[in-house]
Amino acid sequence: MIIAVDGPAASGKGTLARKLSKHFDLAYLDTGSLYRAVALSVLSAGADPADNDAALQAAQALDLSTIDETAIRTAEVSDAASIVAAMEPVRAAIRDLQREFARSPPDHKKGAVLDGRDIGTVICPDADVKLFVEASLEERARRRFLELTGRQGDRASALTQTDVLADLRARDARDRNRTASPLKPAPDAHLLDTTKLSIEAAFEAARDIIDLAAP
Ligand code: CDP
Repeated sequence: MIIAVDGPAASGKGTLARKLSKHFDLAYLDTGSLYRAVALSVLSAGADPADNDAALQAAQALDLSTIDETAIRTAEVSDAASIVAAMEPVRAAIRDLQREFARSPPDHKKGAVLDGRDIGTVICPDADVKLFVEASLEERARRRFLELTGRQGDRASALTQTDVLADLRARDARDRNRTASPLKPAPDAHLLDTTKLSIEAAFEAARDIIDLAAP
């Protein structure tokens, strides 16, 4: 069973996808972490994320086992990730890796949950269930602000919720308006608006959709 979970930044898709993978005993891949890792690698090399060659080189050298889960979550890396993710050669370089994960999930799991922007449209167009998770921009900024301040403590003290909202807005525009695999719901995706839902309520709504769609 393959479950595709797409949606804009901080919509709750990662938390939801992780919970679904546990509940249905499936493998989980956060595809955003791949673009984040490419971006971090470019930034760490002192290159510009808008440099096509540097980004492609980083994508081709991507090694899943060395992704630094803390370092890829900064606001700077988020922004750079959406820049490298708009480059078709970068996307192509890490496409097979994602499809292979879905086709042969690790740990002998019987399927996988993948979350990202183009899972239902490009990576796994034949997924058994597709969810498109949304939430208002204000609610997403509130969630991401809490996440960033909680994670980075003092380093984030200069950060305001207004900055986070502006970052999300810019990243949304970049993700939605790019020509390479833009963020959009697949025609057969189930829309799930989590603006007013708790984590548990969003999980229950998604679980019900999956139980009905893929019994
Ligand atoms: O966690 P958050 O929702 O903020 O972002 P993410 O899922 O970690 O993705 C970071 C960036 O990677 C996004 O802004 C997209 O530009 C890009 N991305 C993408 O283009 N395609 C994917 N399948 C996943 C992420």
